[in-house]
Amino acid sequence: MCGIFGIVTSQEQLLGDILTAAARRLTYRGYDSVGIATLSDDGRIDLRKDAGRVDTVAVKYNFSEMSGRRGITQLRWATFGEPSQVNAQPHLDSDGDMVGAHNGNVVNNVELRQQFIAEGLTVRSQNDGETCVHAVEHYINKGYDFIDAIRLAYGDLAGDYAFVIGHVRDDKLFAIKKGSGLVVGLGEDADGRPFTCVSSDLPSILPLTRKIVRIHDDEIITLWADHIELRSVKDGKRLYREPEIVTQNMDTVQKGGYPHFMLKEIHEQPQVAREVLHLLEEAREVNTVIERIRKARLLYLIGCGTSYHACLIGSVYFAQLAGLAAIPVLAPQFIPQYAPAVNHEDVGLFVSQSGETKDVLNALQVAEKRGMTGIGIANVIGSTLTKSTACWLPLCCGYEISVPATKTFTNQVVTFLYLAYRLAGREPRELEQIPALMERTLEMTDLQMKALAGEINAWNDLYCLGYGATYPIALEGALKLKEITYAHCEGMLSTEFKHGPLSAVSEGYPVIFAAPPDDVPLIVSGINEVTCRGGRAIVIGEDDSRLRANASDMIALPKAGPSISPLLAVLPLQLLAYYVSVARGYDPDFPRNLSKTLTVD
Ligand code: F6R
Repeated sequence: MCGIFGIVTSQEQLLGDILTAAARRLTYRGYDSVGIATLSDDGRIDLRKDAGRVDTVAVKYNFSEMSGRRGITQLRWATFGEPSQVNAQPHLDSDGDMVGAHNGNVVNNVELRQQFIAEGLTVRSQNDGETCVHAVEHYINKGYDFIDAIRLAYGDLAGDYAFVIGHVRDDKLFAIKKGSGLVVGLGEDADGRPFTCVSSDLPSILPLTRKIVRIHDDEIITLWADHIELRSVKDGKRLYREPEIVTQNMDTVQKGGYPHFMLKEIHEQPQVAREVLHLLEEAREVNTVIERIRKARLLYLIGCGTSYHACLIGSVYFAQLAGLAAIPVLAPQFIPQYAPAVNHEDVGLFVSQSGETKDVLNALQVAEKRGMTGIGIANVIGSTLTKSTACWLPLCCGYEISVPATKTFTNQVVTFLYLAYRLAGREPRELEQIPALMERTLEMTDLQMKALAGEINAWNDLYCLGYGATYPIALEGALKLKEITYAHCEGMLSTEFKHGPLSAVSEGYPVIFAAPPDDVPLIVSGINEVTCRGGRAIVIGEDDSRLRANASDMIALPKAGPSISPLLAVLPLQLLAYYVSVARGYDPDFPRNLSKTLTVD
């Protein structure tokens, strides 16, 4: 994720407080490090940055005294390259006359860095934001002018990102984007002097102006204090777009126009899946993880709550795709059940959104004492888990604000699927269809789940069943329903239902089935056990005439095959839980009694 903000004003002035306020409003996109660069008319760049939260770093480096006519700030959500001063953004080019910052991921960062080092450029960090700056410098050194150098760099920088850059002997800022968002603001200060600004997102712009222009992929925007110029990256031709006036209030804007963070985060899933897939393709750490898994005597997948459900599906993927047995285990149960049998040949993948869950850290500590290799899979880089494991993989989701985990779950599943593909020697590029399939799933199921929520709202007790790779999805769907609707929803293996719980079924009793495409006949049996007793069998799965003929309700998913389909099935379940919660008048973002990070036993 990460966030950028840049401003161009009409005259030299104190810019530190304006940039700090903008950075504060981007904190939701990252808080591992922050930096500010100001550019003055006398040819000076003042760059101050460090690891830590905005308010701490702002005081430590006295951001308030920073002045200039142009300024850039960046909030970092670390992926690769630890949160540190050198990796903090913005970054300078080799001789310090250009400064830039980005958000997102440049997935060919490693190759480009090597190329720039070989060319003799001064590369100071591991961070891909610095690579963006050098990518421009590379073309300037070849004699291109500034704007053409940025356009050419755009072609070299692969991934999803937004990038802003300024040159000290100039009066403008330039910005480009690929995949990520980028918005420009046009306004006047309290004395009626014009300014322009650019940012990854609206919350940093709206306190300054409501007149905005949204930038698209393959466009380059130039900002002067009193006007902007939009051009095509490809041929440099001028493009014209009328500014729009944003009327939404700040609360709605911070939620990306959605009424709750949970709904926003549900809809962010395709984009963060795209980002994590890009990153996994490029990260050298992945090869280390694969090697260690291959050599392991026993492999454990360890987590709590939603992260444990990802471990469960990971274990199904490892077995089904790579013929590799992995033991999924709830972190606290690992200690009495498996730790006594662990030795130095074993490997544990410790999975956690926060990287701070005490139950997970306790298990890691015990496991490592017995010589086991611990590998982290975490969203919050710089968390205790990433600092305590030999090696870790990032989930690349940015800040997940809503208490119920959504986008971090799907990226955990995507990460496991990716690892399983690699272990199986299959081409992971097949997984690149996932983001588009997720988008399609959200489009296809949203209205249906909203309507269904109204109908099942009357029930305070229900079941969610799955089989094989959809068994963990059923557990996850049930957890989401429990967590934010306060109804009792039990997740279960579909074949177990007849061994007792079937007695709960009465007229209209809702039972949700997540149907794996390869096991339709088995699910059809389960459906009939429910419907013949008057129950309501709600089926989520790839469209199939056998399911349609038997189900009370069919929630059709796009065709995706046995590995990807279970991942898609969780999306309508998240939507259902969300809509029931809202229908009940609850706040799904902050369910009662719960906390996002559980640092207690
Ligand atoms: C449910 C949820 C929790 C967490 C669990 C572990 O929506 O978010 O069940 O999954 O508390 O948290 P992490 O993943 O931070 O270790």
